[in-house]
Amino acid sequence: SNRHFFVGGNWKCNGNKKSIRELVELVNAIHVERNSGIEVVCAPPFPYLDFVRSLLKKEFGVAAQNCWITGSGAYTGEVSTDMLLDVGVDWVILGHSERRHLPELQETDETIAQKTKRALDSGLGVILCIGELLQEREEGKTLDVCKRQLSAVAKVVTDWRKVVVAYEPVWAIGTGKVATPEQAQEVHNSVRQWFRESIAPQVADTLRIIYGGSVNGQNCERLAGQKDIDGFLVGGASLKPEFANIVLSHR
Ligand code: G3H
Repeated sequence: SNRHFFVGGNWKCNGNKKSIRELVELVNAIHVERNSGIEVVCAPPFPYLDFVRSLLKKEFGVAAQNCWITGSGAYTGEVSTDMLLDVGVDWVILGHSERRHLPELQETDETIAQKTKRALDSGLGVILCIGELLQEREEGKTLDVCKRQLSAVAKVVTDWRKVVVAYEPVWAIGTGKVATPEQAQEVHNSVRQWFRESIAPQVADTLRIIYGGSVNGQNCERLAGQKDIDGFLVGGASLKPEFANIVLSHR
């Protein structure tokens, strides 16, 4: 396809200055051919964004794992998109299942939609995560959930050029239970179809839909071979040398 392969490393709440320096060295050593079009993005915790941006190769991107809904002001504990841009951040991960479902966080579809709008309006790219819980899959609600999560965003966002959708079935995240290539392809295809019918054919054709959930150096190639899988959002394995295999799994 004409969609550039996209691999994000979501480091979640992990690392310290020493381990992050080592991890960046590991990522910098990945030899991505200039004309391959492969896009690599690292998402460290907030306190390390500036540090990672200063150490990471310029051709690789940096993503935050969250952002605030408005600009500066009396919002204790929040981080604005202007601050992210100021330290050279290119992307933000929004709607991650941990932010949607951890009992202490419980971000709603509407909050995630507002954050997505704010980030895009500010000029950041958005890695927008969607995906169903195990119970929802077992009840046959997988697509309903994905569509509901996307519809909330579609109510406030019209320009999808700087969005990458990450399909992350919650039962596959951090569990070692990866979706089969067929299971993932089926959802990716349906999500693309939703974009074709509900947004625009041109958006459906160009939007990157990446997969996340227990991706590793072993299972990445078969997943990358699926027609509608345009890359990965990697958690655990993004902290390890096998991240290089995942970046280079596309042919
Ligand atoms: O954002 C990444 C996903 O939550 C996947 O995490 O690769 O550790 O399963 P995982």
